[in-house]
Amino acid sequence: MNTELIYFNKSEELYINLNASEYNSTLILIDSNLSYLEIENYVNHKVAYLSVTEGEKNLKLVENIWNILFENGLDRSSKVLIIGGGVLLDTAAFACSTFKRGITYSLIPSTLLGMVDAAHGGKNGFNNEFGKNQIGTISLPQEVIICFQLLDTLPEKIYKEGLIELIKHGLIADDKLFTDIFQAQTYKLSNELIKKGIKIKVEIVNKDLYESGVRKLLNFGHTIGHLIEFDSNYTLSHGEAIAAGIYYELILSNKILNLENSLLNQYVELINKLNLDTKYKFKNKKEKLITALQNDKKARSSSVDIVLLSKLSAPIIKEISLDMIFEVLDFE
Ligand SMILES: NC(=O)c1ccc[n+]([C@@H]2O[C@H](COP(=O)([O-])OP(=O)(O)OC[C@H]3O[C@@H](n4cnc5c(N)ncnc54)[C@H](O)[C@@H]3O)[C@@H](O)[C@H]2O)c1
Repeated sequence: MNTELIYFNKSEELYINLNASEYNSTLILIDSNLSYLEIENYVNHKVAYLSVTEGEKNLKLVENIWNILFENGLDRSSKVLIIGGGVLLDTAAFACSTFKRGITYSLIPSTLLGMVDAAHGGKNGFNNEFGKNQIGTISLPQEVIICFQLLDTLPEKIYKEGLIELIKHGLIADDKLFTDIFQAQTYKLSNELIKKGIKIKVEIVNKDLYESGVRKLLNFGHTIGHLIEFDSNYTLSHGEAIAAGIYYELILSNKILNLENSLLNQYVELINKLNLDTKYKFKNKKEKLITALQNDKKARSSSVDIVLLSKLSAPIIKEISLDMIFEVLDFE
């Protein structure tokens, strides 16, 4: 099944579409930070609100979602519309993909990160004590609906965190996208630039849904980024952790593949302009971090496959020793 990608500029267009007959027998699961939309006044569906955070992206939240699906009498012919940021998309999509062996769902991302990244490619799941996104399935939504107006209420900090994944798309696949973001006068991007970022992700996942090849390149910044999220006990947001993860992986690229200093400097300048940090001080002991890295699907006992850049938009997967990773990290 291919996922359909639909764009709307305004919420009104979204509501009109959601009242169409193909959405019969639908439940809308929506992030409680979007309650201002009062969506129940505009659509003829049942609506359930959920409050979610990265720290609660766990089995308990998934069980809560399963219970909502049971309490609303959903069956295999029902459909769920999930409206929210990456945390709700990942957990609710997992709940739908496993509820009664899988029911149809569509995603309406409401954060920039959700729009350019989390909503595409079918990866869903949740965190546990062994690490980030350790339990999950790959299952595709029926549709991904992008409604740009939802971004109007996104707090500046969360918008900027979403930009990090777009910057990553530029670094690994589109030098013009990186340069356009670097040169932009404001942090808010045009809808066209956002669409360009979406296209990069969608093209990659369409080629390699199960991550046996080119999709691995999307992990740039995420080997160390996930370790940072784990070390911070998920007090840092995904975007904040990946901003630093990319920085350390650019340093490794510089050391191992002679990536030019100027790109590293441009990246630091861009992240500073967004008021985010590139450096992160690890708190946990190295041994605990090694176990976390080994739990990560990309790691072996003493080495890890990591995405590095030889130059802008020229990523390469390299096997490097864990020692080499720890050489570049900062500790408290
Ligand atoms: N599945 C994937 O392929 C994939 C890819 C990248 C990231 N992710 C996951 O995405 C998650 C991060 O997602 P995120 O950055 O969207 O964070 P998030 O879902 O935590 O949302 C951030 C905050 O914004 C609020 N919010 C959402 N939309 C809003 C709006 N329109 N107006 C005002 N507030 C709004 C949310 O309630 C939340 O407080 C991480 O768990 C990460 O692992 C998944």
